[in-house]
Amino acid sequence: MKPHVDEDLCIGCALCEDLCPDVFQMGDDGLSHVITQSPGPDLYDCIRDAESSCPTEAITVTSGEAE
Ligand code: F3S
Repeated sequence: MKPHVDEDLCIGCALCEDLCPDVFQMGDDGLSHVITQSPGPDLYDCIRDAESSCPTEAITVTSGEAE
């Protein structure tokens, strides 16, 4: 699973960092950044939570193997 933040869509609400701080971190630019490129299965649930909770749907998740 590979999470991605679309910087054009992110409005910096920081919800993803609240839900999943091991994967998403707010940067100095006020936007969220993925800090863990290949998160382990223990993080999948919180990544999904962040994906579905982001108000602008800036977070997308692709399956690593398929790419
Ligand atoms: Fe941005 Fe969505 Fe996170 S707006 S800060 S990617 S919850």
